[in-house]
Amino acid sequence: MKTMLNVALPKGRLGEKVYNMFDQAGFPCPSILENSRKLIFENEECGVRYFWVKPSDVAIYVERGAADVGVAGKDILLEYNPDVYELLDLDIGKCRMAVAAKKDFRDDQQKTLKVATKFTNIAQRFYASMGRDIDIIHLNGSIEIAPILGLTDVIVDIVETGTTLKENNLEVIDTIVPISARLIANKSSYKFKNQQIDKIVSDIAKQMEGKND
Ligand code: PRP
Repeated sequence: MKTMLNVALPKGRLGEKVYNMFDQAGFPCPSILENSRKLIFENEECGVRYFWVKPSDVAIYVERGAADVGVAGKDILLEYNPDVYELLDLDIGKCRMAVAAKKDFRDDQQKTLKVATKFTNIAQRFYASMGRDIDIIHLNGSIEIAPILGLTDVIVDIVETGTTLKENNLEVIDTIVPISARLIANKSSYKFKNQQIDKIVSDIAKQMEGKND
């Protein structure tokens, strides 16, 4: 029997793009395209098993070895620093981690800055590198509301098109880091399933070269 490669896909539009890349790399699993609420799909012939997980959970599955490979945003890798190999920048799911504030916000450097974010570690590192004292408030979503209601001075969050900020009268005041989706691998899987994983990496890299021509 073939060794199965376990792949954690981020649920959603990004995950569908990722599946297409794996499909073209020689790991098809057509049943995944059928609209169903199933979360696990496998193609024994090709030796691959896919499962849909919440995008922010992909790195956990890969770090713990429940998945051999997966695709996670650089934001999650920077925030949680999972013990995995980062094999390839897939150049999709592109956005940036940014600081945003109300349009009339004037920063008083003497005051502790109040920051709302889901990405506590990224925010802490960013302000520590500037020697700025901050007070972090961890929120789980709708971060944009915090400065509007006076909960915080600024937010640290993902900005993709900028529409969410615009519609809430906020603007970017600093860009922390560009973000994109990364192919990651479990460290021991990378040793023991090296042939399959290397094939995926080189095939997907080739697909990307083709697109850049
Ligand atoms: C992210 C982020 C912003 C929005 C930015 O949220 O937190 O709210 O996207 O995108 P835009 O610049 O294109 O408007 P996401 O949709 O990922 O949902 P989440 O709050 O559940 O993380």
